[in-house]
Amino acid sequence: MTALGKLAPGAPPKAGFIPLSVPELQGNEWAYVKECLDTGWVSSAGAFVEQFERSVADAIGARHAVATVNGTAALHVALLVAASGRTTRSWCRPSRSSRRANAIRYVGAWPVFIDAEPDYWQMDVGKALDFLERQCEWRAGGLYNRVTGRQVRAVIPVHILGHPVDLEPLRDACSKYRLSLIEDATESLGAAYRGTRVGHLGDVACFSFNGNKLITTGGGGMLVTDDAALAHRARYLTTQAKDDSIEYVHGAVGYNYRLTNIQAALGVAQMERLSAYIAAKRRIAGIYDRALGRFPGSRRCGKRRGPRACGGCIPCWSTRPSSASTPASCCGGWSVTASRRGPCGSRSTDRCRTPARSRRIAPWPTG
Ligand SMILES: Cc1ncc(COP(=O)(O)O)c(C=O)c1O
Repeated sequence: MTALGKLAPGAPPKAGFIPLSVPELQGNEWAYVKECLDTGWVSSAGAFVEQFERSVADAIGARHAVATVNGTAALHVALLVAASGRTTRSWCRPSRSSRRANAIRYVGAWPVFIDAEPDYWQMDVGKALDFLERQCEWRAGGLYNRVTGRQVRAVIPVHILGHPVDLEPLRDACSKYRLSLIEDATESLGAAYRGTRVGHLGDVACFSFNGNKLITTGGGGMLVTDDAALAHRARYLTTQAKDDSIEYVHGAVGYNYRLTNIQAALGVAQMERLSAYIAAKRRIAGIYDRALGRFPGSRRCGKRRGPRACGGCIPCWSTRPSSASTPASCCGGWSVTASRRGPCGSRSTDRCRTPARSRRIAPWPTG
């Protein structure tokens, strides 16, 4: 078989191998990429870049979008712009792949990992709040980790597998402690949380469009926000921080993070079919539900409907009985004790159903 044959569209995967995700490029991808090649607009400027940004911003209801070379770059820039001018010390985020941890380290900060909850497999907001309320303290106009002494600057909830994180209590905590809320909405494009699109719930949100995502540009990412100044700064940083379009004048350390017009052309075509992809994912999830739901002890991740309805949800099932996958330490709600009233003096709330077992979060090793 030729190399092309091996890579030909529809080539079957190796026997016994179930691909995580197979891109579907059956819309206008060929036509739009051809347009780039025919016109010579192949690089990081061109109409498709702007069109792609607009289509993603519109899909989630945000005002601004800045396309980037990949999702990690979007996270990096989001961290730079959402915390500019601040001395960054420590961040709070759920555990998963290394990309976010890398992006956090790019800006000189240290991540704090938060466990996942068992129902939706998202960041356990109860534990995140427990960390902010109990393991940090407010002093000198900032929130500081009592163990490491580092200042907490941002929270990065990651909406995984098509489901939203339970953001409301986290959003309240972020405004109370003046923390940036940076959503990683990569895996949940199209999902909604209490009627608002995921990616439009915090200060800024990031997406990746690599090959295993709901829509793909091969490699690519995007940062979305309602904040014009933040979007402007992000665009500036992702395009080498040029202060003059002709002269080589740079007012900051810039990055070559822009998406190319060819990749954006793919993105525009993919976005045209977003709702069809979401419908297909839901249909496929239904097939898994029917096939796996009858096994005793099996539990599906999340719910299809309701305030945390999935977008293009990826059917995930655990085969362990619920008691085993719901450890006693799980905090079903969140708790803010009166004695720890925040700097803004907001009312304390206490609706924690199962008190979180007090857990020492090991400090991130210092380099
Ligand atoms: C949730 C999430 N965030 C960020 C990324 C990073 O994106 P990229 O690979 O485009 O840098 C990924 C990639 O798989 C991801 O799944």
